[in-house]
Amino acid sequence: MPLNLITKHQPSSVGSKSLTIYKLSSNENPLGTSKLVRKQLQISHIKLERYPVFIYKNLIQNVANMYNLNKKQIVLGNGSDELLSLLCSACLKEGDEVIISEHGFLPYKTQVLVAHAIPVIIKDFNNKIDINNIIRSINTRTKMIFITMPTNPTGLFLTIREISQLSILLMPTNILLILDMAYSEYVEDDRYSIKMTTNIVVIKTLSKIYGLASLRLGWMYGRNNVIKLIEKIRSPFNTNKIAQITGSIALTDSQQHYLSRSFNMFWLIKIIVSLREANFYISRSYANFVVIKFDKKLPISLIENYIAKCNINIRRMSEYKLFNSIRVSVGLPRENIMLINHLKKLKKQRFVLVTHRTEEGTTQYWKT
Ligand SMILES: Cc1ncc(COP(=O)(O)O)c(C=O)c1O
Repeated sequence: MPLNLITKHQPSSVGSKSLTIYKLSSNENPLGTSKLVRKQLQISHIKLERYPVFIYKNLIQNVANMYNLNKKQIVLGNGSDELLSLLCSACLKEGDEVIISEHGFLPYKTQVLVAHAIPVIIKDFNNKIDINNIIRSINTRTKMIFITMPTNPTGLFLTIREISQLSILLMPTNILLILDMAYSEYVEDDRYSIKMTTNIVVIKTLSKIYGLASLRLGWMYGRNNVIKLIEKIRSPFNTNKIAQITGSIALTDSQQHYLSRSFNMFWLIKIIVSLREANFYISRSYANFVVIKFDKKLPISLIENYIAKCNINIRRMSEYKLFNSIRVSVGLPRENIMLINHLKKLKKQRFVLVTHRTEEGTTQYWKT
């Protein structure tokens, strides 16, 4: 396996224990796990000594009921991360090609390489997945196309028309269209929807709007032969009992869902509008995060240092090939306001590049 091609995923750090760090780096739900879950989850009643067999089936049934799906075509994963890995291991072989967009979610490439297949990276158009570039890259070796809806990190989505166009085009082939819909619940737009066809595989997570990131729970829906392949290699107890019971409660909590969605919508727009007014470059986002692009004149490390000194944890975007950019998740109101105010202050800061020449050589550093 070409391990040297794989970059280790670095989860964002949480900072030192003595400091309060405002974590706006992992697109989690700032409102936390729902009250209903906290009230109904009674750990002392859960038989932790037993393997989680029946509960797995219950949760699948709940997902099937909620989304009107065939329960036989659903598989649960230890986070959607695990489902991506199972999918690639089960369905790819050496030399197969998988189309991934230029700024696509990094684990896609990793899992494709782990399966000895070839990631084919296509250019986006204005930070949006370019359907024409996808079509141009398809050949007889193509086995999968990964599309994030909406994309992490660029926050945009392909419309129902575009997805339908692509899936119809793929009909005569065996190519799978993988729709990773981790942030789908946040989108409010009439053009956002999917029409399930046999070549579409949907992956969803309970880590985001359901506020269960620490429990690791995701699910996948696809055609029978794909699900059967995954079931062959899935470890029988890949998701744990507490996660499964909690997941079932969380799925029914429409109030938390509604609250999280409207809260996100309000603050997402507020962050975008406030920072645009302060002349920052931010593109539209339909998820629970935004990407902010900075002037090339200042090195991004300087901006990252400045934000870190404000105790705000953000995600750098160079690994996503978005240079001079950071991604910020929508946080609690005080965190969002703090972020906006610190960034506005940053605009007013004067940074001077100091050049220091000695006999040993020249060093340069920035001073405020
Ligand atoms: C696009 C996308 N897919 C999948 C995941 C993984 O989600 P999970 O927590 O279910 O593994 C993430 C997490 O950030 C994501 O951004």
